[in-house]
Amino acid sequence: MMTEISVSPLKEGLPFGRRVRGVTMAATEDAQTRDTLKNLFVEHGVLLFEDMDPSDALQVAVSNVFGPLKEHPVKNLSRVDADAYPGVVKIHSPGGSGGLVSIGTKQLSHWLPWHFDHAYNDELNYAGVLRATEIVPEGGLTGFTDGVALYEAFPKDLLAKIEGKTIIYTLNVQYETMRFGKPDDFAVLRSKPVPAGFADDVARMPRALHPAVWTRDTGRRCSTSARGCARASSAWKTPRVTPCSRR
Ligand SMILES: [Fe+2]
Repeated sequence: MMTEISVSPLKEGLPFGRRVRGVTMAATEDAQTRDTLKNLFVEHGVLLFEDMDPSDALQVAVSNVFGPLKEHPVKNLSRVDADAYPGVVKIHSPGGSGGLVSIGTKQLSHWLPWHFDHAYNDELNYAGVLRATEIVPEGGLTGFTDGVALYEAFPKDLLAKIEGKTIIYTLNVQYETMRFGKPDDFAVLRSKPVPAGFADDVARMPRALHPAVWTRDTGRRCSTSARGCARASSAWKTPRVTPCSRR
């Protein structure tokens, strides 16, 4: 029997995304509900789960609806529970630590350009399931978009330039050496600390090549062209014409 979940648009007028309420552990174990969630993801690209038990166990159960956990390629990121939940990492930036930048007059901690996760890895993840365990009182915004909606919103002249092109990504999130994605009025106020062993992670991973535009199983065209971690592409002449979105 299908468990009770309710589905509504993420935001009126947005071409992607759905809000899903009422997902419980029992719902994640119900075959019909699992199929509903998988189909919603394929159709709408971004799902926002609301009113859930904020536990690691339920977060992982939701993730398992969409596929098995993928080990995170960066060995030196802290894990929530490496034995119970392989690949589930904890990202945190306590006040006064981490990278600090300014964009115009605004100071931002732990800023990153638009990117898709695991871009620097040869094997992409099917989906990421993220949960905020502690929310800062101000800012703390993370933007999400959908590759199909991105493709459809792309200016056609720029799309023509990236069709059939490959983008090279490497594991580089240091502001000083990031090649693409920095706004014109960007300045580094404090460098990102480099975690112990991070250089080993970088050395272990060869560059990754991903198509700028590709076709999903549904036949819909999709773009995952993004500047974060990008090193080069024959589609991009200079950083100024880098064709991708920004948050
Ligand atoms: Fe990310």
